[in-house]
Amino acid sequence: MQTLPASWYHDPEIYERERVALFGREWLMVGRARQLQSPGDYLAADLRGWNVLVIAGHDGEVRAFHNVCRHRAGPLVDRGTGRCHTLVCRYHGWSYELDGHLKRARDFGDAELPVDELGLLPVSVAVWRGLVFVNLDADATPLLDALGSFAAECEPFAMEQLQFSHQVAHEVAANMEGYHIPLVHPRLNKEVDARRYRVVVGDRACVHTAPARDGSVTSGKWLWRFPNLALNISPDGMNVERFVPLGPRRTRIVYDYFFRDLSPAAQAANEEVVRLSLEVLDEDRAICEAVQRNLESGVYDRGWLSPRHENGVAYLQSLVREAVGG
Ligand code: FES
Repeated sequence: MQTLPASWYHDPEIYERERVALFGREWLMVGRARQLQSPGDYLAADLRGWNVLVIAGHDGEVRAFHNVCRHRAGPLVDRGTGRCHTLVCRYHGWSYELDGHLKRARDFGDAELPVDELGLLPVSVAVWRGLVFVNLDADATPLLDALGSFAAECEPFAMEQLQFSHQVAHEVAANMEGYHIPLVHPRLNKEVDARRYRVVVGDRACVHTAPARDGSVTSGKWLWRFPNLALNISPDGMNVERFVPLGPRRTRIVYDYFFRDLSPAAQAANEEVVRLSLEVLDEDRAICEAVQRNLESGVYDRGWLSPRHENGVAYLQSLVREAVGG
């Protein structure tokens, strides 16, 4: 199979089509359920131009809304996390209940407002095993059905018992196969048997496995789910990886690290896991940015994907083609 054309990696028009077709229609992980434990706890995120907030109601239910006031489109909360009793627009002070209903149009004057029609615009939200997802498509398939085999692959792991450790964010482009491991990741290559690296694709997901050498810290699976979520998961912890586009040429990678044991006794082993994953990320960044420069140089259009090693890349590219068209 041939690769996508080079222009798809930097063309603003393709990027805009991807933004709408992928990020406007797919379930996207935005945070952790533990960030929404008390009424009024919220998290707000920019989903490629759509400003979304997720908030816990007084009834304990988690809801999501566009972070857009119905008066003149002011934001209700800043990006990030926080807690509030009511949602108050930062522009002119209209206030909303935690369930999204308009509570008060501050000092508006005598005009009659159709208050019942001026609630915050809802967004689909669902929680799966402690992770919070939103979907901007009102007709989206329910999350669990959409996750399909990706969710099934995670069943053996006690995800709910893992404790959040910390988050790391980097700007980088991403790779998606084991073909490059021997050349790009010398230390990882000592930890896993790259010759037996396997990628199983289907159900809009890829399951990556490679036998770990004895004593390796990389046992487990690397699971990817279209369009931008991956779990690097083992019995002792997981790294939830999100690939967030910043524009046609740049991607932010956000890593949330969780461990089964956060005690001082486990600290050295946990730090080693983080150190190795960031080392791999640095190595990927160096090669991917070099590739990106070459893709933009104009001398290369399409290449060929290895059927032995790059079936995951081929699958991702087929899903992008299907969503974006062309
Ligand atoms: S834009 Fe929100 S109160 Fe005016």
